[in-house]
Amino acid sequence: KNSEVEKIYEINILAARYFYSNLQQNGDKVKYLLDRGLDIKTIKRFGLGYSLNSYTSLLDYLKKKGYNEDLLLKAGLVLKGGKGYYDRFRNRIMFPVFDYKGRVIGFGGRVLDDSKPKYLNSPETPVFKKGTNLYGLNFVLKNGVPNDLIIVEGYMDCIKLHQHGVINTVASLGTALTKEQAKLIKRYCNNVYLCYDSDAAGKAATLRGIEVLHSEGLDIKIINIPKGKDPDEFINDYGVEEFKKLIQDALPAIEHLIMAAKSNKNLDNPRDRVMFIKEVVDILRILNDEVEVQAYAAKAYELTGIAPHVILEQLNIARKMKN
Ligand code: GTP
Ligand code: MN
Ligand code: MN
Ligand code: MN
Ligand code: MN
Repeated sequence: KNSEVEKIYEINILAARYFYSNLQQNGDKVKYLLDRGLDIKTIKRFGLGYSLNSYTSLLDYLKKKGYNEDLLLKAGLVLKGGKGYYDRFRNRIMFPVFDYKGRVIGFGGRVLDDSKPKYLNSPETPVFKKGTNLYGLNFVLKNGVPNDLIIVEGYMDCIKLHQHGVINTVASLGTALTKEQAKLIKRYCNNVYLCYDSDAAGKAATLRGIEVLHSEGLDIKIINIPKGKDPDEFINDYGVEEFKKLIQDALPAIEHLIMAAKSNKNLDNPRDRVMFIKEVVDILRILNDEVEVQAYAAKAYELTGIAPHVILEQLNIARKMKN
C-alpha cells in the first residue's frame, strides 16, 4: 500500500516532466503563457506544461515506463471508459500542484480558449486530498518561514505575484477555504491577507474565509482589488507597485466588512440604518471575544454614529435566537 503511494509520486513527477516537454515543443502554447505575462523562468520554476490533444499520449508514455493502467487510474491521470483507458487531461495548459515539501500531488489543467470547464483538476487520490493543501506554499517556504501569507484564489494569481516578487503568496484553489488549510497556515504564521477576486463569488468566499481563519485564531486583513478584477489582471493592468499599495491599504477583516456594509448605504435614511445595524450584527457574530466585540461596536459608532449599545443589544438578541 505504501509502495503504491510512492509509485503515484513517481508517476506524477514523470507526468509533470512529460507535460513540460510537450509545452517546450509547442511554441504556440508557450505563447499563450507569455501573452498572459509569465516569463520563461517562471514557466520553468512552476513546472508549467501542456497536455497534448490526444486520448492516449500520456497513457502510452507511462505504460512504456512500466506502470500499469490501474495505477495510472488511481493516480488520477487516466479515465476508464467502455473502450478502455484514456488520458484525463487533453489539450490543456498543465499546472503541477506541489505540496509544502515540493512533491507533485496532482494537476490542474486549463483550456486555451473559452470552453468549459475552464479548469480540470485531479480527482482525490491517495496523495491528493482536496482542501488540505495550499498551492505555492513550497515556493514560499524556500525563502524561510514567512511573517504573513497572502491567500489568492487561482494558479495564475499566485504565480504572477511570485514572478513579481510578492513571494509570500499561496492559492486556496477554488474559493472555499477550509479549516485544514487554516491550520496549515497556522503552522507557519499568525497573519494572513485574504485577496480573493473582486466579484460576487470572491466576496462571498471572503466572508466565509474570514470565519474559517478567525476560528483558527489568525489575524486577518483584506486586500481589496478594485473594479471586478483578480490579482493577476490587476497586476497586468497597473503593475506590482500598485498592488503593493493595496497591501498597504488592507483593512483588518472586521473593519473591512463593516466598511463594505456601509459602502452601499445612506445612513441618514432610516431603512438603510436598520439594514446596516443588522449587517453589523451579523459581522460581529463572527467574533467570540467580548473585548473584540466592544472594540468593534465602538468602531461602528465611529464610522456611523450608531450608538454601541444599540448594536450590542441587537447582537444579544441575535445570539439568543440562535441558541
Ligand atoms: P484564469 O482565467 O486562468 O485567470 O483563471 P482564474 O484563476 O482567474 O479562475 P477563477 O477566478 O474563475 O477561479 C479561481 C480558481 O478556481 C482557479 O484557479 C481554479 O483553481 C478554480 N477553478 C476555476 N474554474 C474552475 C472550473 O471550471 N472547475 C474547477 N474544478 N475549478 C475551477
Ligand atoms: Mn474567481
Ligand atoms: Mn484570472
Ligand atoms: Mn480569478
Ligand atoms: Mn496607501
